[in-house]
Amino acid sequence: MRPARQQLVDNLLPTIEIVDPAEDGSFDPSGLFAENTQEIWLEIGFGSGEHLAQQAIDNPAVGFIGCEPYINGVARLLSDIDKHNLTNVRIYRDDARILLRALADASIGRIFILFPDPWPKLRHRKRRIIGPSTIPSLCRLMLDGTELRIATDDPSYKEWILQHMLACEEFEWRARHPRDWRERPADWPATRYEMKANTAGRQCSYFTFDRRR
Ligand SMILES: C[S@@+](CC[C@H](N)C(=O)[O-])C[C@H]1O[C@@H](n2cnc3c(N)ncnc32)[C@H](O)[C@@H]1O
Repeated sequence: MRPARQQLVDNLLPTIEIVDPAEDGSFDPSGLFAENTQEIWLEIGFGSGEHLAQQAIDNPAVGFIGCEPYINGVARLLSDIDKHNLTNVRIYRDDARILLRALADASIGRIFILFPDPWPKLRHRKRRIIGPSTIPSLCRLMLDGTELRIATDDPSYKEWILQHMLACEEFEWRARHPRDWRERPADWPATRYEMKANTAGRQCSYFTFDRRR
């Protein structure tokens, strides 16, 4: 890792890191952010953090929790946080499932899960971050009327996401027309993984599900 990034890992990360939350659904994240914070949004598997950093710049009244175990990605996000003096980002550096169990009911506004690892082999599908074991937690955490945004370029994961999300009555898929999932909305910054997928000629899908009131 570049020395400048290592310094941020050593000095900045400890000031904004969420460490060992109790996995009992009692973790209220509002205390992590300024008093006038309007909502808290969560990004799971932020990779190098370019989407999260841009959202945090564009939405200064929102508090962001980014979850990513990959330390080089965390270090890249720290560079952006430092460069743009972002005070509205906190980082959880472990498996998102732990954080999902820890967070309190209705404590989160939007959730972003962008290009999650596809685990295409049949026997590995239970490892997928979106599925029957996590959808009820996502539902529990989200405030009524908020959005869950998911993207993937993997054909079998696309089908899987729709199959499992549409089976959950608490979520409504907003799409009315193919462009609604084929085109990335304007307020949804591109990610590094997505750019690679596009270069390789893979079709990306962008799903927005509303948490019903
Ligand atoms: C294919 S990459 C996509 C990264 C980024 N969202 C993007 O679009 O460029 C998937 C990311 O999810 C992270 N990840 C995988 N399993 C995870 C888990 N259980 N909890 C949190 N992050 C996870 C990986 O470390 C990786 O950075």
